[in-house]
Parts: sequence; structure tokens; C-alpha cells
Amino acid sequence: MKWPLLCAALTLALPAQATPPVRFGDALHAKFHHDRCLQCHQFNSRAHQGRAFHSHRARYLCDNCHAPRLTGLARGEWMAPADKFDYTGLDARTTCHLIKRNLGSGDTRRLMREHLLDDARIRWSLESGMTPAGRFPTVPGGYEAWARDVKAWIDGGMICD
Ligand code: HEC
Ligand code: HEC
Repeated sequence: MKWPLLCAALTLALPAQATPPVRFGDALHAKFHHDRCLQCHQFNSRAHQGRAFHSHRARYLCDNCHAPRLTGLARGEWMAPADKFDYTGLDARTTCHLIKRNLGSGDTRRLMREHLLDDARIRWSLESGMTPAGRFPTVPGGYEAWARDVKAWIDGGMICD
């Protein structure tokens, strides 16, 4: 009689221990704001002194310097996004809403999943960090931790607030 009672007690206890919803601010926000992501996302921002406005006087033909053999990216993939993709200094909630908005229309969950898990530039931030001036530190945790955090957030409904 002991075991069934114990099992019943455990089952009853479960709902109270249900895991809280995953928010963008839990793990992803800090990673988004790592320098390997930010330096590229703020590249074209004058307000945030992006590299286009100081270290990069040669702003075109990115591949001439960020060559595929260095970055591991296919030709043409090393490029910086437009100013509106810059999230420098934004808090978790605002960053989250901005990236959802910038994703465009369609099946947002699928787009977000494809982008965050398959984009070569994101993989570069997580696993390479190689520039023409040498290797810069990558986002801590690498791809495995990143994929786990991304999936948890997307499957939980991409909660911002
Ligand atoms: C080499 C430059 C580069 C690096 C490094 C980079 N990105 Fe991007 N990112 C881009 C470009 C270019 C786009 C495409 C913008 C467009 O669609 O025009 C983009 C798009 C995105 C988008 C989709 C658009 C949106 O805002 O919803 C997200 C999210 C994103 N990047 C997050 C990241 C994160 C997180 C990292 C680091 C782990 C990162 N990026 C690293 C260049 C970069
Ligand atoms: C003349 C060579 C050259 C060209 C052309 C060039 N870069 Fe760079 N880039 C570098 C060097 C060298 C570094 C590392 C030193 C530094 O911080 O500027 C670098 C660093 C970067 C970084 C910072 C990486 C990080 O994670 O800290 C970004 C982003 C970047 N470049 C984007 C671009 C983009 C986008 C283009 C084309 C529009 C481009 N670069 C064209 C030489 C170049």
C-alpha cells in the first residue's frame, strides 16, 4: 500500500512544480548582446559608433577581407544588416519585440527557428569569431547551449514580457 500512496502524492505535487514560462530575458538576451552579434548588428549605426564609422573606411566588398577561408561562410554571406536591425543597449523586452517585428510576415515561429538555428553568421558568432585581424571571443556556451535556449524560448511561444 505504501508505493501507490507515494505515487499519488507525487502526481498531485507535480502541477505545483511546473516549469515557469521561458522568457527572452532568461538566457537569450545576454547572448544577443554579446559583442560577436552586436558588432555586426551595429555596424551601420552612426548613433552607436558602428564600425562603418570608425574602423572601416573600406566599407565595401566585405569578402575581400572577411574571406570565406577565414570566416567559413559562403561568398556574399559576410555582411552587416541595415540600421533598423541594431539593438545596441535595448533591454530584453524591447530587443525581443524588435527582432520579432524585423523578422517580417509569415510563420514567425518557423522563420525565427530557421534563422536562429541555421544562419551562417550566427554560427560564426557561436563557433568561430575569426576576423582578418585574428580570432575574437565567441558567445559562451557554443551552438549546443544556444540551440537548447532558442528551442525552449520558441516552443514556449516566444515570450517577450
Ligand atoms: C556578419 C554579420 C552578422 C553577425 C555576426 C550576426 N548577424 Fe544577425 N543578421 C545579419 C544580417 C545581414 C541579417 C539580415 C538582415 C536582413 O534580413 O536584411 C541578420 C539578421 C538577424 C536576425 C533576423 C532579423 C530580426 O531582427 O528578426 C536576428 C534575430 C539576428 N540577426 C540575430 C543575431 C544574433 C543573435 C547574432 C549573434 C549570435 C547575430 N545575429 C550575428 C548580420 C549578422
Ligand atoms: C580592408 C579590409 C576590410 C574590409 C573591406 C571589411 N572589413 Fe570588417 N574587419 C576588418 C578587420 C581587420 C577587422 C578586425 C579589426 C576591427 O575591429 O576593425 C574587421 C572587423 C569587422 C567586424 C567586427 C567583428 C566582431 O565581431 O567584432 C565587423 C562586424 C565587420 N568587420 C564587418 C564588415 C562588413 C559588413 C564589411 C563590408 C561592408 C567589412 N567588414 C569590410 C577588415 C575589413
